[in-house]
Amino acid sequence: MISRNPFIFGKVVTGKYFTNRTKELKELKHDIKNHINVILYGPRRYGKSSLIFHLFESLRKENRDFIGIYIDFYRIYSKEKFIKIFAESASKALGWNVSKILEFFKGILKTVIPRVTVDNEGKPVVDFNPQFNWAPSAESDRLLEDVMQIPIKLADTGKTVCIAFDEFQEIKKLNGNELLKELRSFIQLQKDVSYIFSGSKTHLMKDLFANKLNPFYNIGKIKYIDKIDTFELVEFLSKGFRDASKDITLDMAKEICNISDSVPYYTQMLAYEIFNISGIEKEITKDTVNQAVELILTSKSEEYIFIWENLSLTQKKALEIVIKNDGKSIYNSNTLSKFHIASSSLNKAIDELKNKTIIDSERQLLIFTDIFFKEWLIKRIL
Ligand SMILES: Nc1ncnc2c1ncn2[C@@H]1O[C@H](COP(=O)(O)OP(=O)(O)OP(=O)(O)O)[C@@H](O)[C@H]1O
Ligand SMILES: [Mg+2]
Repeated sequence: MISRNPFIFGKVVTGKYFTNRTKELKELKHDIKNHINVILYGPRRYGKSSLIFHLFESLRKENRDFIGIYIDFYRIYSKEKFIKIFAESASKALGWNVSKILEFFKGILKTVIPRVTVDNEGKPVVDFNPQFNWAPSAESDRLLEDVMQIPIKLADTGKTVCIAFDEFQEIKKLNGNELLKELRSFIQLQKDVSYIFSGSKTHLMKDLFANKLNPFYNIGKIKYIDKIDTFELVEFLSKGFRDASKDITLDMAKEICNISDSVPYYTQMLAYEIFNISGIEKEITKDTVNQAVELILTSKSEEYIFIWENLSLTQKKALEIVIKNDGKSIYNSNTLSKFHIASSSLNKAIDELKNKTIIDSERQLLIFTDIFFKEWLIKRIL
């Protein structure tokens, strides 16, 4: 019998699919207990959302009075939406029954009548009276003020409260700085609550939190999320394969990390395909690994062609330079003259590629956010 695939990618992982991060977890737990705000940033797919989920799960197990509210800013495109999702997520996180939730929200909301419905998992969710008129901005401002009292009210009753705003950089797409300023004014008064702001567009996150001109400057401590240590990932891979009755050598596990550059998402994706391809074979061989890489490149090639075709000539050149220079010293005069490009055009193209989240900076290096896109360019285009 073939065992179930022990690897998962593309969704938040917890439990046995989640490995390591012990240092980060310990530090974050400490910060939450001390009501410190944390800015978690790092390149795409390094495992930020999973870390937050795991953190909340683990805190809930340790402390029944812990309440973690998670909000994904990709879902938020207006202030109204923020208010609704904030109330909805808070009500789900409470884990209370309908009447207790209703009572809590009635005590908080002054201008609107709450209703409670049940979602498809059977959890009570708060909603607002559909007759509520959002149009006058004074009304939604008051409602924002009300919902932002939720964390304070919970902290006042002895709960440890943490609010995670994931992909927080998306707030910049909303109406200028307005919501940002309003949130700042509430958050800075909430001394007994901690907030986690996380995001994967690192240049936007840096601008939001490290630029003195922005309202969120100095709001908390900044923490960069690194890749998972390769040694730990090798252990994780070996155990995953072994538990599913496969044999894998240390070298082969290292090879998987090497190809996927130890970015957790791509490591799990590659391992997932390798496991599938291996079928009834017991031993994971180099040949199986190569086949899995080819399969991924082929299955993603339409997506990659689309990305490539939609790049300007300068952006294409910039990608080639990043690859040829291993992400380093791209502005040195030799490189610029070899590729016939001015430093200012290259800089502009790099910024555009960062905005498209095709590349990112990791410390002093420029990296591809999708390891297999880079591999595809090397093998099929450049
Ligand atoms: N601690 C971990 N252990 C094992 N695999 C992990 C871990 N963290 C993340 N992964 C892998 O990476 C994938 C992406 O994780 P996650 O969505 O948490 O990353 P992210 O940084 O939030 O990504 P994005 O930038 O796309 O929001 C997961 O589906 C999983 O395969
Ligand atoms: Mg995420």
